[in-house]
Amino acid sequence: MSAELMKRRLTAVDILNRKGAKPVVSLTAYHAHTAAILDQFVDFILVGDSLGMVMHGLDSTVPVTLDMMILQGKAVMRGSNHALVVVDMPFGSYEESPAVAFRNAARILKETGCGAIKLEGGRYMAETVKFLVERGIPVMGHIGLTPQSFNTLGGFKVQGRDAEGAESIKDDAVAIAEAGAFAIVVEGVVEPLAREVTQLIKIPTIGIGASADCDGQILVLEDMLGLSPRVPKFVRRFGNLSSHIEDAVRSYADEVRARTFPDDDTVYKPKK
Ligand code: KIV
Repeated sequence: MSAELMKRRLTAVDILNRKGAKPVVSLTAYHAHTAAILDQFVDFILVGDSLGMVMHGLDSTVPVTLDMMILQGKAVMRGSNHALVVVDMPFGSYEESPAVAFRNAARILKETGCGAIKLEGGRYMAETVKFLVERGIPVMGHIGLTPQSFNTLGGFKVQGRDAEGAESIKDDAVAIAEAGAFAIVVEGVVEPLAREVTQLIKIPTIGIGASADCDGQILVLEDMLGLSPRVPKFVRRFGNLSSHIEDAVRSYADEVRARTFPDDDTVYKPKK
């Protein structure tokens, strides 16, 4: 990466310009401390509405509110200064009309200081994407398995298995790209399809359970760290933080219960 790019925060245009070039690296984060770690390695941090399931133990992302997204978006902005920060628009905050989407997306940009928003949906959201982009809001699309629609999809299922489904996803990708999105998350679709979509459109595809041939990849941080109790089948665990936390908490609990404090204890009493 050039010295100039290392000094400033990346923008949506920097990500757009990565089409067909160096793969885009991305992870989700919802907190300042994890954002600060990720900031050294990733191109963009997604404040995903997956926070509803990951942080709050909800069964889906449907109950997540705009205020929840803004609160965590602010935290991630405080913790990072290099990666582009993209904040998810939660279910119910953008589908009704382009004007409603603009009002809520503008709130996210103003209150968090983030550089872009992400919204789910294909052709039917293209008009809204165009409306937002023309008014100064960088938009990342999200097609394929769109978790906010799990009630109509019948669960968190891989999409595009039959010819009709595959064509529909390609049409969605083209519509969102032509509407002006700077990148598009392609989630949970069969392998040849994600590759075809990547070849078909002029903006970077960011894969999650889709294909290694996408222009970039994203994972939910807690899933890849081994902190989430349930993870999608495609997720590789790059760490096992649950067992590290368990070991540390067990040692602390044992020490407190046994009163086995070190003689030079500075942990349980204040330093003089
Ligand atoms: O909410 C989220 O974390 C996401 C990623 C899975 C792409 O949308």
